[in-house]
Amino acid sequence: MFRKVIPVVLAFSVAVIASMGASAAEPHEPVDHRFCFTCHGTDGMGSEGIQGPRLAGMESWYLKRQLELFRAGGRGVHPMDFEGMEMQPMAAILTDEEIDDIVQWASTWEYVPAEPTITDGNVEHGEQLYRACVMCHGDEAQGNQAMNAPALQGQNDWYLVTQLKNFKAGYRGANPLDTFGAPMRAMTSGLANEQDIIDVVSYINTLGR
Ligand code: HEC
Ligand code: HEC
Repeated sequence: MFRKVIPVVLAFSVAVIASMGASAAEPHEPVDHRFCFTCHGTDGMGSEGIQGPRLAGMESWYLKRQLELFRAGGRGVHPMDFEGMEMQPMAAILTDEEIDDIVQWASTWEYVPAEPTITDGNVEHGEQLYRACVMCHGDEAQGNQAMNAPALQGQNDWYLVTQLKNFKAGYRGANPLDTFGAPMRAMTSGLANEQDIIDVVSYINTLGR
């Protein structure tokens, strides 16, 4: 139900890259970074239609690392990772300086928690499942840089569901370049099925509000 291929976005990705006239790591004209909002929503608040998650309020260290990981082809290259494949070419064109500029720019966007969209989760069961996550993501899902684990609170619930499914299936975290995603794969073994994933995300929806 959360898996959608969006031809419009694919067409847009191609158009963006074509208009930049540059391939990975080649020098190119400065990019207007506001193109991020096309898929990540106004002011980086997330866009469910395109499945681009909220970036506003994301930790700078995590944002930088994900942009570098996408750029290096360690994320968003598995043929079943449809949403990640939308993002990977967007990062592939960025220089180190542009990544730093974007991280700096994004740090000025206001954090506003995303509206929950999941209504069929068992929050109590999710709370039990979440105990296995506290060590790294924190008891309020506020994230913990020392454990390399980003905040989950306030993130779009549909995005968290997709990521947990992707880690579990090996569409994310199995790439040899994805050293920080690899431990997360093992963590999904305690989530037996889709309902467990929905339950734990429903509990995360209650945190940090
Ligand atoms: C063509 C649409 C599109 C554009 C343009 C785009 N993104 Fe994305 N981005 C996505 C999608 C879809 C995802 C979700 C990938 C997934 O589900 O794994 C994503 C994921 C991400 C993530 C991962 C978030 C996380 O929590 O791990 C980051 C960071 C990101 N994008 C940053 C950016 C930045 C910065 C820009 C502008 C330079 C940008 N994106 C432009 C579609 C896009
Ligand atoms: C051993 C530490 C650890 C534990 C325990 C852990 N995680 Fe993670 N998690 C991580 C790390 C590290 C990342 C970041 C991976 C990366 O940088 O690519 C992550 C990333 C994620 C993401 C992706 C976030 C994003 O913005 O893309 C989700 C969702 C997630 N974890 C959910 C959970 C849930 C739910 C649990 C409990 C069932 C859990 N994690 C347990 C370390 C952990």
